[in-house]
Amino acid sequence: MPNIILLGAPGAGKGTQSKNLIAQYGIPQISTGDILRANVRNKTELGVKAKDFMDKGALVPNELVVEMVAGRLEDEDCNKGFILDGFPRNIAQADELKVTLDKLGKDIDATIGIEVDKKELVRRLSGRRVCRGCGEAFHVIFNPPVNIDVCDSCGGELYQRDDDKEETIEKRLEVYDEETHPLIEYYKDKGLYRAVAGIGSVDSITEAIVKALG
Ligand code: AP5
Ligand code: MG
Repeated sequence: MPNIILLGAPGAGKGTQSKNLIAQYGIPQISTGDILRANVRNKTELGVKAKDFMDKGALVPNELVVEMVAGRLEDEDCNKGFILDGFPRNIAQADELKVTLDKLGKDIDATIGIEVDKKELVRRLSGRRVCRGCGEAFHVIFNPPVNIDVCDSCGGELYQRDDDKEETIEKRLEVYDEETHPLIEYYKDKGLYRAVAGIGSVDSITEAIVKALG
């Protein structure tokens, strides 16, 4: 089973596609954003350190995130493969990931780049609602829940992420262009990059990702 990085701007559909890929391959998703938000919610030491950066739409310092991911990759369930969602986020994190994987005798099989234009990213982020219970993402127009504020999957409460406000969305997209976008070249150079168009139905995009993974 594959060891995958899902690369893409905020709102590209990394979390949404991860759900389908978990079902397809039976491998865990490691979403640094989800893990950090859980730490903020639980007011852990890491959460307290990360909160201000996340609220501003900035990246959390590398050392905090790298250690968190390295620990998670050691877990037994990652031996059958894994989906990295939201990590690495800059070249330094990508270099650190290589060091971690080398130690574990593992390798990345492919980096899937989900490509979506900026106008669509803003539309998606501003209408997103997320379940407090299971983390599933809905959209008020593109993927509306049957009952507003209630998760179709688990009945949990839907909320709007703090960083899905207009000014913070702009900042996150800038940070993506400056810090994360260079990873496309980084993984192209290693022959690992596969671009997938992120527009269309969720299932058709999953099909394209599965095809790209060969
Ligand atoms: P993170 O949680 O990773 O957020 P992000 O990268 O900004 O990405 P999103 O989760 O916003 O988007 P997504 O691609 O998952 O889209 P989704 O599937 O939800 O990071 C948050 C923060 O944590 C960062 O700003 C940073 O502070 C910190 N952080 C995280 N990782 C870090 C790291 N490695 N280093 C340092 N800091 C880190 O979809 C979006 C919407 O679109 C949904 O409403 C969905 O229903 C809809 N949608 C999805 N697919 C489609 C489709 N095909 N058609 C129509 N609508 C669709
Ligand atoms: Mg996400």
